[in-house]
Parts: sequence; structure tokens; C-alpha cells
Amino acid sequence: LIGFRDGMRGLAENRFTELDSAALSGILTVGGTILGTSRDKVHKMMVDGKPRNMIDTIRKNYEKDELDALVCLGGGGTAKNAKRLSDAGMNVMTLPKTIDNDLVGTDRTFGFATALEIATDAIDRLHSTAHSHHRIILTEIMGHRAGWLALGAGIAGGADVILLPEVPYNVESIAETIKRRRAGGSNFSVIAVAEGARSVADAAELAAAEALVKEADSPEGRDAAKQHRRAVEASHRAHTFALASQLEAATGLESRVSILGYVQRGGIPCGRDRQLATLLGTAGADLVSQGVFGVMVAAKGEQAVPVPLEEVAGRVRYVPTDHPWIRAAKEVNTGFGD
Ligand code: F6P
Repeated sequence: LIGFRDGMRGLAENRFTELDSAALSGILTVGGTILGTSRDKVHKMMVDGKPRNMIDTIRKNYEKDELDALVCLGGGGTAKNAKRLSDAGMNVMTLPKTIDNDLVGTDRTFGFATALEIATDAIDRLHSTAHSHHRIILTEIMGHRAGWLALGAGIAGGADVILLPEVPYNVESIAETIKRRRAGGSNFSVIAVAEGARSVADAAELAAAEALVKEADSPEGRDAAKQHRRAVEASHRAHTFALASQLEAATGLESRVSILGYVQRGGIPCGRDRQLATLLGTAGADLVSQGVFGVMVAAKGEQAVPVPLEEVAGRVRYVPTDHPWIRAAKEVNTGFGD
């Protein structure tokens, strides 16, 4: 068993280390990855300042190292990379590891439960200042384009308002929720804001940019449309701070922002994540022995099952707007800004 350093970059550069029992001993309690990681794309890797397709190089390394299988741990980007390598003829499998919980085909991803605990703890702690200083505190929670983490932690931490990418918000509606709470004697509010949450206007702008990507009929047109979409996304990035000012003006309550950032992604993994990683990892090893490839090992109920990579790669599992978590949150008077 060997582990490539720094994800796809190490695979392209053939940098690996042996994963014997001494190397693996004690890592159950360690966050991050002992191997290092990278955000590289196998078909567009920056080499000497230029994007290069490294799939052939990777295949040569795969052959030279006499690999039986390549097991890739990660989220959406990893699934796309893995699918490309699988299409190029390599025996590839993925395990769903992301705090975002946004992979299609699996009920859960490992990393999510730990991040949920951290974000919940943060909301608990933010309540102290919100309550004592009579403030609105907006806390921005990761999750990329999906709202699972903000929704889960928002419910668990008793956030008064939860803003999700899947439910575009109106500032007036959020302000109404806060004013209603004040009328009921609570002159503070904690708002869990998913990093991908957007106002109705911003969501419409992004949807238009996404439509251009879908409609593009040439590779150049597609690249230009993607660049435009990235610019639109970047222009929305500071929305939590803008929203704080708008809510302060609309309610008269002082507003503050706390971005949780990478704190959510670090530290000791919780028991549920260790259990899930062990379940999926061992199932993955069995599937490798059986010669099952081109799949992600998914959690379905209590079982680990293989799901074809083509059903996973390039897709995002958003929170359905009729999800039971949203219904439950609404029943305890949580606002969604809709
Ligand atoms: O996918 C995990 C995640 O933490 C997302 O929630 C977030 O959008 C992104 O990664 C941040 O990426 P980076 O580490 O490249 O800043």
C-alpha cells in the first residue's frame, strides 16, 4: 500500500510514500491528511506556469508503479479527477470525503459530522455576545455551493435565521424575523449564513451566468463563460458583511460578522466520522479485491455500496427545499429569509 503525496500533483510527479502499519498507526485521531493534498485538476495542471493535461503522465506512473488500483479520497473535484482517470483506463475508486456533504449518490460524507460539531459549538459561543450585547451576529459557515453544513449547524445551534444557497434571501424578510423576535423580548439574533447563500438578486445574476456556461457551444466560449461565472461568484463573496450593514440599518441593532473559515475543517475528527471512514474504507478494500472499479463507495443507510462514478462526477447534491431539516427548522420558528 502506497500513498501519493499532495493528491493528484504527487501522482503526476510520482511522489509517494509507503503506508505500512507504522505510518498508519495513530492516524485515526488526526485531522487533515498525513499525505498532504492539492486542488490540482489532472487535465489542467499548472506546470511551469502553464496548464497541462497530465493524464498520460499519470497513466505512465500508474504502470511504472504497477498499481492494482487507485483509491482517491475527496469531494466533487476528486470525483471529477477520478472519472477522468477511470475513463483513461485506470482502476479507480473514490471515497466520499468532504465537510460539504454535497456528493450525489451517498447519504453522508466523512468530514461533515466533525465540521457540524465545530460549527455548532461556534454558534453556541456566538450566542453569548449576541445575547449580552444585544447584537445580530452573522456567522459564515462553509459548504461550497450547498447549504448542508449551515443548515445542520444552524438547527443544532438554534440559529434564529439560516441562509442557504438553495433558498435565496430577501433582506426585508430577515429583518422582519429579527424585529418579530425583538417584539417578543429577544433583542439579539444569531444568523447562520452558508458561504454560498445569496440574495434573490444575486442568485438571479448567478443563474444567468450559469446558463451562459451551459449554452456555450465551443470550448473557448465555455472557458469565457466559466470565467464570467467565477467573476460573478467573486463579486458576491463579501455578501455576509454587506448583509450585516443592511440588517443594522433595517433593525437598529448592532451587527457583527464571524467567518468560521478553516477552523471548521481542522482538528480531531469526531466518532461518527471515524466510524464512517472505517466502514467505507474497509468496504472499498473489499471491492478492490473483487475487482470493482469506476465507483464511489457510498453510505446508504447503514450499508456501504458502490455507485458508478458517472453518477457522481460533475454533480452537486443540494439541500432539497422540502427537506425534513428545513421543515423542522421552520416549525421551531427559524427564519430562512424567504
Ligand atoms: O470543500 C471543502 C471546502 O472547505 C468548502 O466548504 C470551501 O468552499 C472550500 O473547501 C474552500 O477551499 P480552499 O481550501 O481551497 O480555500
